[in-house]
Amino acid sequence: MMKLREIFEAYDNHIVPTYTKQPLIFVKGKGSYLWDIHNRRYLDFFPGWGVGNLGHCHPKVMSAVRDQISKLIFIPNNFYHIPQAKLARELDFWTSSRFKVFFCNSGTEANEAAIKFSRRFGKGRYEIISFSNSFHGRTLASLAATGQEKYKSGFEPLPLGFKTVAFNNLEEVKAAVNDKTVAVMLELVQGEGGVNLAQKDFVLALHKLCEEKKLLFIIDEVQTGIGRTGRRFAYEHYGIIPHIITLAKALGGGLPIGAMLVRRDIADILGPGTHASTFGGGPVICKAALAVLTVIQKEKLLKNTQDLGEYLKGCLLKLKEKYPLIKEVRGLGLMIGVELNKNCNFIVDECIKRGLLINCTHENVLRVMPALNITKKQIDQAVSILDEVLFTV
Ligand SMILES: Cc1ncc(COP(=O)(O)O)c(C=O)c1O
Repeated sequence: MMKLREIFEAYDNHIVPTYTKQPLIFVKGKGSYLWDIHNRRYLDFFPGWGVGNLGHCHPKVMSAVRDQISKLIFIPNNFYHIPQAKLARELDFWTSSRFKVFFCNSGTEANEAAIKFSRRFGKGRYEIISFSNSFHGRTLASLAATGQEKYKSGFEPLPLGFKTVAFNNLEEVKAAVNDKTVAVMLELVQGEGGVNLAQKDFVLALHKLCEEKKLLFIIDEVQTGIGRTGRRFAYEHYGIIPHIITLAKALGGGLPIGAMLVRRDIADILGPGTHASTFGGGPVICKAALAVLTVIQKEKLLKNTQDLGEYLKGCLLKLKEKYPLIKEVRGLGLMIGVELNKNCNFIVDECIKRGLLINCTHENVLRVMPALNITKKQIDQAVSILDEVLFTV
């Protein structure tokens, strides 16, 4: 068994320090709880940075993975296997048979696939319009699409062909469209950018503009998808059908997967040899993802997300009445942001001391995204810890 000091030293000495870290070492997870190396229990209201829609170690995901590992761990994409066929069919069901899927391993790869698809589709048109405060990933093209300078700084030159315009501003989109424009890329609820909701009239008008100008409407559902907002996908709230959606995070129940879903009438533009991923859609991850989708339906988690999302938002609004430090509470389903008048990192630290894990994004927005199977009792516990923290600061 490694000593605490050895663990921290191993990270310091041997790992490229790209992450700001909390000094917590976790050893076990179950549902909405995590246990650290001292056997201290934490209530996790930000499981896996958007990965844990079923919480930690859901038994159905664990048994699916165990079952598949005992039969066949990996098979490359030049052969067929049953878990990928089943997952593709299930995603088809989840999206009412509108899309075909390309499997990869992460959100940024799903967006790269969408960008590459757009370039093939465009036949010379290649510009993609994205939005201020968006986040689409860290690989170079997804980074170029990301509308936040802090992530790009020092990595220039980024791939050409990306324009950022103000979020929720149709006039800026119209002004940015030219004969090279091929697509628009949007998060319907910006996650890393501070839990900002796209306005319905804006999205509808943007959708119409895309149809008129023959632009692809790409919705990045990496954080909002798989039930997070109380619908299977956030686009359902808006009554639109995008040309492409990208998924990752919660789809794999804790294992890495990404997926680009593209409307079936154009999907075959990416023919054999045009794009690939060695690990994408491997048997183990596909079995895990199938379990995730099945559990969400069987355990009626969309309903729970809608109901408890409203309940949680109500509790947080009550805190807003009590504490002028809170500027706004906003969100969709169980993706909720609490905007403060100042930097919120210290709140996160105080919550950790009291056994609650939440996130601070965009400097002053507390991001609360508990598992979709969270209970009212757990919400009450979390809100009472937050109340205590806000009272004492
Ligand atoms: C909306 C969105 N898109 C893309 C990504 C990138 O996903 P990944 O870290 O899996 O590459 C993220 C990650 O936070 C995200 O929130």
